[in-house]
Amino acid sequence: MQLRGLLLIVLVIGFEKSYSQSDSKLDPRIINGVEAPISRTKFQVSIRLKQHDRIFGRGHICGGSLIGPNKVLTAAHCLYNTDRKRYRKAKEFIVVMGTQNRFSRVNGTIVSDVTSIAYTNSFSLDTMRDDVGVMFLKTGLPANKTHLTVSPIVLSNSSVAPGTKCQVSGWGKTSQGLLSTDLMMTNVSIIQQGVCRTSYGNGIVEGMFCAGSLLGGTDSCQGDSGGPLVCNNELVGIVSWGNGCAQKGFPGVYSNVSYYRNWIDSRNASAPVDYSFGFLSLSFTLALGILFN
Ligand code: ARG
Repeated sequence: MQLRGLLLIVLVIGFEKSYSQSDSKLDPRIINGVEAPISRTKFQVSIRLKQHDRIFGRGHICGGSLIGPNKVLTAAHCLYNTDRKRYRKAKEFIVVMGTQNRFSRVNGTIVSDVTSIAYTNSFSLDTMRDDVGVMFLKTGLPANKTHLTVSPIVLSNSSVAPGTKCQVSGWGKTSQGLLSTDLMMTNVSIIQQGVCRTSYGNGIVEGMFCAGSLLGGTDSCQGDSGGPLVCNNELVGIVSWGNGCAQKGFPGVYSNVSYYRNWIDSRNASAPVDYSFGFLSLSFTLALGILFN
């Protein structure tokens, strides 16, 4: 809300032009993290394409967070098939929890099918607006017994002060430029919205915020998307996008969990495929859902 001058508009135009280029020559450095301690990432899930996960672990495409026994929060773009320009079907996914090394199933590892997914149809790949999605699990967390390595995380319901030190985790690209075998984690700071806009200009819309280090060096990266940004044991952000990874002046951009809190809370498993904010598009969606289910 603070800085909305001409300067920013100029910056955005410049940025939009260079975005796709610099994203491909990505500076590869969860880039400079450490192996995530299981005790601090019990809610971390690996979202996989069933088709590619016949070799367990290969199908990883995104991270996510367990937010209820059968409910996973992720990014909308993780649910979208960019080649076919359509959302995937719930049955294309599996969700794996309770694993550190994504290739190994250990005691406590849960592998679940997905019964339904939800996203807002205002999500756009071009702007990354409303990059938030929910999945419902067939298996999920067994009821009424404590699990040692899997447990849901609480959603934040207020914004977090700039400068707060938070953690982001995932099996995304490391400095080697490949997806990580082990779950990695790094510390990032919440960045003021005005400062975020000096990096990305009007590319930052409501529901987005930046976290990282303006000096670069550590960040989430491709493959971490949909995964958790946690501050003081609450889920504050969803890994969404960035200009490259860990580049100086370009922190990671996250979907704001507290902004989407009502939408997230009101999703439930007995629901059709698709949801939206608006009533009109909701009825349209429902109609489509009935037609195509
Ligand atoms: N869009 C990426 C994904 O699908 C995540 C990019 C995060 N980028 C960043 N610089 N933090 O995995």
